[in-house]
Amino acid sequence: MNPLSPSTVPAHVAIIMDGNGRWANARGLPRAMGHRKGVEAVREAVKTASECGVSYLTLFAFSSENWSRPESEVSDLMGLLKTFIRRDLAVLHKQNVRIRIIGDRQNLSGDILPLLLEAEETTRNNTGITLVIAFNYGSRDEMARAMRLLAAEVAAGRLDPSAITPERIGASLDTAGIPDPDLVIRTSGEERLSNFLLWQAAYAELMFVPEFWPDFSRETFIAALSRYAMRERRFGGLQPAATLAVGS
Ligand code: FPP
Repeated sequence: MNPLSPSTVPAHVAIIMDGNGRWANARGLPRAMGHRKGVEAVREAVKTASECGVSYLTLFAFSSENWSRPESEVSDLMGLLKTFIRRDLAVLHKQNVRIRIIGDRQNLSGDILPLLLEAEETTRNNTGITLVIAFNYGSRDEMARAMRLLAAEVAAGRLDPSAITPERIGASLDTAGIPDPDLVIRTSGEERLSNFLLWQAAYAELMFVPEFWPDFSRETFIAALSRYAMRERRFGGLQPAATLAVGS
């Protein structure tokens, strides 16, 4: 059941799932356990977002900078993502969830790319919530890849530089066709965007919550959506009362 008023629910919520390692450290557990618990929080977040009427949920699963972590941790994270897709794909498909992957697909080794493609392909006609998984994703890398594509079009004489508008750039990013996030949440108390959706989050509301990602429960998520409902978004304009004052 949706506990929120549908008109105030953000269409697109993006989450930086931070704090798995600290959650584990605080319990004297290996970091891998934090990531494992993090996958449970992922399942709950998808369910909650869907029930609350969120249309797009983007999760930052693995950044292009995460490769610099110790090999064993990278391998843990890859394993968890693969297991998640293998185990949960059928369930997500049944729940009418559509999966989109953003991030650089070049040079991915092993069986990860076929699994990501299978997840997208299997769910492509689903009409429920879209789960966008940011994998091997970095915003600057995404923008550089888009710029290279546009530059190649210009060089080939198929695109006039004057046609490079914000809309055209947006349509060249991995998130083409996905509306910009209305709300970006980061867990664990850290207050930065860490190269996540920098272009797309231009007007997003930012919310930093203290919970480590494995503790990000249905209640925490709903509390964040309720706080979002109180925010006033102006997109560079004036608040309605000020508009009235100026106009009158
Ligand atoms: C940040 O915690 C989290 C990550 C780098 C990865 C998030 C991945 C998952 C939750 C599992 C796989 C994802 C899906 C979609 C199934 P951290 O390790 O940086 O924590 P710390 O800052 O406390 O060290």
